[in-house]
This record gives sequence, structure tokens and C-alpha cells, in this order.
Amino acid sequence: MFENFPLWPARAATTAGNVDALFIFLVLLAGFMSLAIFTMIVIFAFQYRARRGHRAEQVEGSVPLEITWSAVPLAIFMVIFVWGAVIYFQERTPPRGADEVYVVAKQWMWKLEHEQGQREINELHVPVGRDVKLIMTSQDVIHSFYVPAFRIKQDVLPGRYTTAWFHATRPGVYHLFCAEYCGTSHSGMIGQVVVLEPAQYQAWLSGGATFGSLAANGESLFQQLGCPTCHRSDIQGRGPNLVGVFGKLVQLEDGRSVVADENYVRESILSPSAKVVSGFKPIMPTFQGLVSEEQLTALVAYVKSLSPPPSGAAAIPKLTPGTQPQEPKE
Ligand code: CUA
Repeated sequence: MFENFPLWPARAATTAGNVDALFIFLVLLAGFMSLAIFTMIVIFAFQYRARRGHRAEQVEGSVPLEITWSAVPLAIFMVIFVWGAVIYFQERTPPRGADEVYVVAKQWMWKLEHEQGQREINELHVPVGRDVKLIMTSQDVIHSFYVPAFRIKQDVLPGRYTTAWFHATRPGVYHLFCAEYCGTSHSGMIGQVVVLEPAQYQAWLSGGATFGSLAANGESLFQQLGCPTCHRSDIQGRGPNLVGVFGKLVQLEDGRSVVADENYVRESILSPSAKVVSGFKPIMPTFQGLVSEEQLTALVAYVKSLSPPPSGAAAIPKLTPGTQPQEPKE
């Protein structure tokens, strides 16, 4: 609609049209109401102006009128609320089987890592026509991942993971901004999202140097840190067996239960006693300060790889569990 008139950024993801439709509706509604109100002000100013021989009359309330002017705006606001909520939940719910990219923000750059091991800085390559889920955290302060062409914006917080997702519909290069003031070079914390045709994307994937898949890096780190001592993959050791745990409901020692998602795995590494699995003792030491954000994402990816991918997921090579050294080192 506005191809040569940059009132709108490009629409390059499935959510963009929905967001724009709601936005246009709000602008038209606000414009119509403003016009209606100012027109009535002008008409009333003439019609009821002070004149000789006219005295003001007291007007009593009218119940039908008051009900009408309450009910009609309520109905309009409910339409906006429901419409907005539907879009919000669509944007907040990553589809199952999406390709995953881990994002670590820091003053002042974006570090991105693909499941297959490709790493990028301030640049994200994605294929057109696929769901891409971002699992994001910050190394220092609050940042915000903002791609106007996809109409997505999500705060990136230190100490936890937030997620966002998109389904790019048009190849091209799009702006990536940090949308949360994060210090001196906030305005320089920009990058680009490069949306490629599937064939080009495959070529890009196989082109760059890789450092092994994220899950494979996580597995070697898992061993370096001595985790298999307790988290055995053949039997239940002193810590829970992690095979098949990710994505499942976990029963906790204090009677609560929790879904084993990225944040749960992260918390269990950094604050192991926060949510102890039922039947186990709080004996695990914290790894706070011992592992970097990148290492944490690798460990999370490894734990995730120990669970079968959801049906319909991309055929990303998963590691076979059970290759850890099995002898406990005391
Ligand atoms: Cu990061 Cu602003």
C-alpha cells in the first residue's frame, strides 16, 4: 500500500499484517472520534451561544442516554481489547518445531548462535517461510530485541530467558534495533536480519566456520564440569537423569510441579536449590559465576537435545545420550 512512501516499515513476517490492521483501525477510530467531537463543539458553540431573550434551562439526566454512551464505548473498547489480545497471544506463543536461535545481548552488541553452531554478531541469517524462535538473555542490563519489519519487540533481561518468534515471508535485509535505553552506545546497538531463500540459507549454513553444534558444545561442557557424576543417563544417580526431561512436567520436593523449560534448566544450574526434584536432596552446588551466558545456552541446548523433538520438528541432528563417562569421580 505504501511501497514508495515510507510511512510503514516493510511487512516481512506473518504477524505484520495483523498488527498493521489493528493499528490502522485505531488510527481511523481516533480520527473519526476527534472529527466528530470537534464538529459538535463548533455546532454547539453557534447553536447555544448567548443571545438576548434566551435563558439557560436546567437539563435533568436521561437514563437511556447514559446507558447508551456507556455501552457503546464499552463495546468498542472490548473489540480493541479482544483483537489486541488475540494478536498478543499469537506473538507470544512460539509454534512447536520452530528453528531455535539463542541470543545474548550485551552492551552494546547482539550475539546470536544457531542450533547447528553458527555464531553471528549483530547479524541474523534466517530462511524465508520457516518459524524461528529466539531464546534471549542479557549479560548485563535490559535490552530489547526489535525488528520493525516483523512487528516484534521483546525485552531481553539479565538472569532469565525471554522468547520471541517470527515467520519471515519476504527475503531481504531488515533492521534490528535495541529498543531499550541501555547506556552510552544504545543507539549503536543495531544490526540486521537477513532473510534468505531456503537454498541460499542452506549454502550460508554450510559456508561459515562452525564450532560444533550448540548441543555438542553443551555436552562437552557437561562433562568438563563433572555433571555426569550425578546426572547419569543410564540410571537415576544422585541427581535426576536428564534424558527425556525437557518439556515435561516435573514434580518438585515441596509438592509443586513445574514444566522443564529453558528458564527451569537455567535456574537449576544457577540456583539448584530453588526447585529440587521430588525424591532428590539439595546437594548440587551452584554454577553461578562459573559459566558464561554462552555456556549456559549450550548446556540448555544439550539438556533439550536429550528429549525427543516434537512431532513435525525439523530434522536437526540430535545427540545420542549415554556417551558420558559413567564412573563417578569422588
Ligand atoms: Cu541495548 Cu539499548
